[in-house]
Formats: sequence, C-alpha cells, structure tokens
Amino acid sequence: MKVVAGPSSQELAHRVAEQLGINLVESSWKHFPDGEFYFRFHEDIAGEELIIVQSLYPPQNEHIFELLTIVHTAKDLEASKIIVFAPYLAYSRQDERYLPGEAITSKLLAEILCKIGIDAIYTVDIHNFKVLEYYTVPAYNLIASPLIARYFVESKRLTKPFLLAPDDEEAAIKRVEEASKALGGVPYDALEKRRDRYTGRIETKEKGLNVEGMDVVIIDDIISTGGTAANAARISKKMGARKIYVGVTHALLRGEALKMMEEAGVDEVASTDSVPAVTTKISVAPLLREALIRKI
Ligand code: R5P
Repeated sequence: MKVVAGPSSQELAHRVAEQLGINLVESSWKHFPDGEFYFRFHEDIAGEELIIVQSLYPPQNEHIFELLTIVHTAKDLEASKIIVFAPYLAYSRQDERYLPGEAITSKLLAEILCKIGIDAIYTVDIHNFKVLEYYTVPAYNLIASPLIARYFVESKRLTKPFLLAPDDEEAAIKRVEEASKALGGVPYDALEKRRDRYTGRIETKEKGLNVEGMDVVIIDDIISTGGTAANAARISKKMGARKIYVGVTHALLRGEALKMMEEAGVDEVASTDSVPAVTTKISVAPLLREALIRKI
C-alpha cells in the first residue's frame, strides 16, 4: 500500500504516510498556463493499493478535477485498490433538493467517483451523513471532535471545559457527544440555529446555558463566514463563560471570519489540516490510521 499526495493535501499526505509507515508514490503535477491540470505517476503502480489524499476545499471544482484525474489514471494503470481520503468533502451541504429544481451536487460527485473506479472513500466530519448513502462503495465518516476538544483541554489546561455545538443537527450533536465521551464526560449542550435558504442569513436562538465561569469550546464542522461561531460565542459570553474557544474541522475562513469571531469574544480558533489555514493546529492523519487499523 502506498500514498498518493494530491495537490491540495501535500503535507497531510506526508503525515498519513508517516502514520501508516508506508511510502509515498513518486508523482508530479502542474497546471498549464491556461489552467489545465497535468498529472504523472513516476513509478509502476500496477497491482498496488493506493490511498489518494486530496481534500476538496476551495477552489473545490479545481480540487475535484485533480482528484478525478488521479483516480482515473490510477485505474487506467491498473492499481489494485483505490482508496480516497478526502477529509473535506466538497458539496456535502447540498445533500438534497431543498428548493424545487435544485441540483444535488453531493450526489453528482459520489456518482462520478464511483463510476471511475474508487473502492472506498474516507472523509472527516461530513456535514450531512446522508451524503455517504450516495456512494455505492464503502464510504466512511471519521470524527475529529475528540482530537479538537483534547487540543484545547490539554494545551490550555482547562479545568472547567464546556463543549458547545452551535446548531442542533444530528451530526453537530454527535460531534460534541463523541468529544465529551473521549474526555470522560465533559458537559455539553447544543444551540438552535436557522439559516434562511434564500438570503443565507443565520439566526441562533438564545437559550440558558450553564456556562458561568466555564471555558466554552465551540465545536463545528465548518467555519465559512464565521457567523455561526460568532453567534454561539456571543450567547456563551452573555451566559457568563470565562474563555471562549472555537475548534473546527474545516476552516474555510471566508472574508472577515476570523475578525468576526474575535469581535464576538473568541479567544482562539484551532482547526485541522483538512484545510491548510492560519488556524491549523491538529492533524487528521491519525484518524485515518485508526480507521484502517480497525478494518484489518
Ligand atoms: C452549518 O450548519 C455548519 O455546521 C456550519 O455551522 C456552517 O457551515 C458555518 O458557516 P458560517 O461560518 O458561514 O456560519
């Protein structure tokens, strides 16, 4: 088994190879002046099991095409097994037709990947579990929230941590539940959030939180504009939280996201290497290792 480092996840691929104690495949890639993508394997991969590491963060469409190119080439050159590790699985927020006539882009991506020959896919903190059902090959979601919560509790030596999900969707609650369990029963709660499907505006309902004098760690899968985390931070502050931290798996950090969270009272943001960012402090590579070990 060998690791292929996709253009979007070069460092992560090295960490995955290191964690698994296996080598990277020798390959090279470039973009032509007009933007078209070129990829080449520099060794014979026939009969080889490959883990292709390519996170699909923005520019999503470019990263998706790079992944399709690598998978297609690997299949064509007769790799015996193709496992994709895409910690950020683009388009997972469009998991169904919310408004009449909408495209279900997560389904489109799943259908293409399966069609061109992947054997399995691993992702991290997928926005909606339903997307996994669109894959006709094994599709696994790994949960990073225990690693994220542990990062804050250990590095800040938190004695009174409180985990908070900024919305009450099934996946968000599961993330704080798992983190709480991993840390031996840290208290947690979830807020209720609604997003206007036409304007994108979000509203978070205020509710009583038992966080007086506690250090709140807001755990989310994605930070895009920062609005969701900022709302959760403001509510936590109002309820008497001491410090407020934001731990996120996929830090997309669009526009003024960091400033918005800081102004809402957030003391530190930490994210994983699913998306390389200024906030990256935690690696998702050990999650893949554990998942693969469990399968052996
Ligand atoms: C949505 O439900 C997700 O879990 C995140 O909370 C959301 O994508 C974050 O987006 P933003 O940072 O723009 O509020």
